[in-house]
Amino acid sequence: MSFLQRCLLRSWIPVTTIARTRCPSYSTAVHGSLERTLVAVKPDGVQRRLIGDIIKRFEQRGFKLVGMKLLQASEGVLSEHYHDLRRKPFYPALIRYMVSGPVVAMVWEGHNVVRSSRLMVGETDSAQAKPGTIRGDFSVHISRNVVHASDSAEVAEREISLWFHSAELISWETSDHRDLYQM
Ligand code: TYD
Repeated sequence: MSFLQRCLLRSWIPVTTIARTRCPSYSTAVHGSLERTLVAVKPDGVQRRLIGDIIKRFEQRGFKLVGMKLLQASEGVLSEHYHDLRRKPFYPALIRYMVSGPVVAMVWEGHNVVRSSRLMVGETDSAQAKPGTIRGDFSVHISRNVVHASDSAEVAEREISLWFHSAELISWETSDHRDLYQM
């Protein structure tokens, strides 16, 4: 059993403390219920000055920001990111849109953050996204749906390591931790 697996058998609070010092892969690993996910404000969201509104929702929910940057995404990163969609008819337009301006890439951490983020983001097709979701509140069309969130824990790990170097991710403890989680 690896050290990380042994960490996972413990409650996640000691894991955060132990892993930071002893688990080499702590920066991108998924720790049982404590997960990390990639969220990105797409070029339309940046242009429409929605960065703050989107960040606010994740902060208010109780998730912890562990990485963030404004960048012009390269076609190389995007072709890896959207590799599974490369044969779809909308793929060329998707890549053109994603390189049309800067994006804000973020890594959020917390209990069940992958699933919760997808629910907060809403349906891929903005026309189907429920009011109260980010896409449901801020967008009307699937091709301009303002935000990305990883759709599974495995995909999140892959996407985080595609968009971030491990040194760009910060492990830190929030002072309201006891108010958000059972100790
Ligand atoms: P996808 O990974 O299926 O959805 P999600 O972003 O919800 O995980 O698709 C990636 C992006 O491709 C999607 O956010 C918007 C764009 N897209 C289109 O422009 N047209 C389409 O018909 C689909 C399915 C996606």
